[in-house]
Amino acid sequence: MKQIRHLLITGIIVAGLTAGIGILLQMVIDRMPLGGSVQADNIESLLLKHFWAIAFLFALIVGIMLYSIFAFRQKKGELEDGDYLEGNTPLELVWTIVPTGVVIWFAFLGGQSLTLMEAVDRDALRVNVTARQWSWSFEYPEHGITSDVLVLPIDDQTLLRLRSTDVVHSFWVPEFGPKQDLLPGGEVRELRINPTVAGEYTLACAELCGRQHALMLARVEVMSRTDFDAWVEMKVAEDPCALGDQVGCGQKLSQESGCQACHTVDGSPSVGPTWLGLYETEEMMSDGEMVMADQAYLIQSIREPGAHIVMGFENVMPIAISDNLTDEDVLAIIAYIESLR
Ligand code: CUA
Repeated sequence: MKQIRHLLITGIIVAGLTAGIGILLQMVIDRMPLGGSVQADNIESLLLKHFWAIAFLFALIVGIMLYSIFAFRQKKGELEDGDYLEGNTPLELVWTIVPTGVVIWFAFLGGQSLTLMEAVDRDALRVNVTARQWSWSFEYPEHGITSDVLVLPIDDQTLLRLRSTDVVHSFWVPEFGPKQDLLPGGEVRELRINPTVAGEYTLACAELCGRQHALMLARVEVMSRTDFDAWVEMKVAEDPCALGDQVGCGQKLSQESGCQACHTVDGSPSVGPTWLGLYETEEMMSDGEMVMADQAYLIQSIREPGAHIVMGFENVMPIAISDNLTDEDVLAIIAYIESLR
C-alpha cells in the first residue's frame, strides 16, 4: 500500500516536471530563428523530440531523487541502518531495454533526417558561392550573372557550391538551418537549401576569419519563381560590363570582388584607404615618400598591394582578389575610383 503511494506520488512529480521543463525548452526553440527552409523545419522537429526526451530523463532522475530525500529521510528516533537491497531483475531489464530502444529510435530519426537534408533535386538551381576576406559573391552559372545579393526562388531547391579564396569561412543563414564551411585550396563544398518563406535574410560568416569577420554579411532574398526570373532578366539586361559602361562595370566588379568590404566610397574610415577623392591626389606613404595616386599607382596597388602602403595603414589585402581580375577589370575599377570625386 505504502509502495503504491510512493509510486503514485513520484509518477505525478515526474509527469509535472517533464511538462514544465519540456515547455521551457520549447520556449527556447521558439526563440530560435529557424523555419525558413525544409532543412530548418527538419532540424527543428528533431531538436524538439530530443528536448522532450531530455526533459523526461531530467524529471525521472531529479524528481525521484528529490522525493526520496524527503520521503526516506532519517526520522526522529531512527538510529539503525536502512534495509540492504540487492538486485531487482525486472527493474534492471526495464532500464536496459527501454534506453537501448530509445537510442536506436533516435539513431533511426537521425538517419531519416540526414536523408532529407541531403535529398538531391536534379533540377536544383546552381549557385557558386565565393567567400573571401571579407565578403561574399554569388555566381549563377546557368544564367551567366553574378551578384552580391543571394537571390533564391521559393520552394525549389538551390544547390550552393561553396569555395573560399583565402581562409576558412562558414556559410550560415540562421533561418535556413545548416551551416557549411568554405575551404581554401580549390575544394568545393555543397549545401542544398529549399527555402519555404519569402523575405529578406542575412547571410553571416560563422567562422572567425580576421579583422572584418563580424562584418562579413550578405543580403539574402527569397522570392517567387516569377520574381526570380524577372530579377535574372534585369541583371542580364543591366550588366554594365556587357553594355560597355566602364565606370558602372568597375563599380559592379568592386562590389562583387569584395573591394568595398575594406575601401569605402563615401570617405568614412575602414581597413583600407577610402576611394572618395583618391584619384590623382598625393598620398604620404609609410616610408615618408609622397606618391601620386594615378592610374599607374592604382594598378600597382591592386596587383601588388604591399608595394606602397599609405601612412597609417597596413597591407592586409588578399592577393587572390587581383588574381581573379583581368587587366580590363582593373582598368574598369580604376575608372570607377576616378569617378568618385
Ligand atoms: Cu569570413 Cu568570418
